Amino acid sequence: MSTLAAPVIQPSAAAGSAVLGTYRPAAPLFVRADGVRVHDDAGRTYLDFVSGIGVNALGYGDAGVRAAIEQALSSGLIHLSNLYRTEPAAALAQMLVDASFADRVFFCNSGAEANEAAFKFARRWARTRGGEAKHEIVALRNSFHGRLFGALAATDRPAMQAPFTPLMPGVRFVDPDDAASLDAALDPARTAAIIAEPVQGEGGVQPLSPAVLARLRAAADANDALLIFDEVQCGLGRTGHLFAYQAYGVVPDILTLAKPLAGGLPMGATLLNARVAETIQPGDHATTFGGGPLVASVAATVLARIAEPAFLLRVRELGEYLHARLHELAAGCASVVDVRGSGLMWGLVLDVPAAPVAAAALERGLLVATAGERVVRLLPPLVIGASDIDEAIAMLREVLA
Ligand SMILES: Cc1ncc(COP(=O)(O)O)c(C=O)c1O
Repeated sequence: MSTLAAPVIQPSAAAGSAVLGTYRPAAPLFVRADGVRVHDDAGRTYLDFVSGIGVNALGYGDAGVRAAIEQALSSGLIHLSNLYRTEPAAALAQMLVDASFADRVFFCNSGAEANEAAFKFARRWARTRGGEAKHEIVALRNSFHGRLFGALAATDRPAMQAPFTPLMPGVRFVDPDDAASLDAALDPARTAAIIAEPVQGEGGVQPLSPAVLARLRAAADANDALLIFDEVQCGLGRTGHLFAYQAYGVVPDILTLAKPLAGGLPMGATLLNARVAETIQPGDHATTFGGGPLVASVAATVLARIAEPAFLLRVRELGEYLHARLHELAAGCASVVDVRGSGLMWGLVLDVPAAPVAAAALERGLLVATAGERVVRLLPPLVIGASDIDEAIAMLREVLA
């Protein structure tokens, strides 16, 4: 009888030879991380202004996250399924409800899944009001909602969609600044929901204006449709508010969360108000892993930390500092044409391609992401310090010189 031996991982193999080629990972092989820095196998240290694409809000090796993982492990309940009740998911759902507009929470495993659930719940609600015809989703130009068939259908990236059509039918895109196109896209007989990211992330770090969000809310109400906010990237403290919508004073019917929720473990959540939740029946939606005891326990710890007023105040203050330093940088760099963002989510809009800038920053020991062709995106851990920001600005200045 043969036994399956654990593979001996060579550095070159670990870089991904057997991993399906859907990614083009950068060259360094990362082996360790602490605080706001990651270390490669050659002993080089990098300052992280990506945080696992907005996931590692508390940085790396956070003592509270580690303790939560260890405590959850000691119960023996890593997973049990939603056939049975467990305490951590119920407690986390209550925390999210207490902190938001929502009355109920559905747990899943990623941002795209949270949006798929949102679309199903919106359709379920809409069916009670207008039958099958009332199924359409209105999404915004520049949007990104994920890579599954429904989420991708609502993502304004024709090139990303093209190889996989047909996608979920019934999605209409509107320009957020064009009130007339919004009016033309909506119809109470057809529209189930409008979906928007209060701060568009992948679409180039573009905060929507309060007037646009208010118009979306009014348009949804006028057309008997729901308003969904996708805060997978901009939610959970990233803008310096627990939820981005709170700074706008515009309240959605459904809110989706993921990235930082469980401290780096995979978790998504779809928050619903009572009028949507009461249309959902057992069996309408499900996922094996959603809201498992381990992830839910860790998420409760992360949420409690991020929701502290002092934590959020610090994010806002550091965000203002980063904003000011980026403006200074832009003033001395001809290739930077705009600086936009919110909290600790910023985009440097360039008049040259962003990917070579990100590659040059990596060479100097700074991790930054891109958002589209010409935007360098900065998503540092929310526990970053002012001196880390100074260090990042100095490296960006060298790169952009
Ligand atoms: C706003 C937004 N929605 C949804 C997603 C998809 O999340 P996931 O990659 O966890 O499926 C992302 C990912 O970047 C996102 O930024």
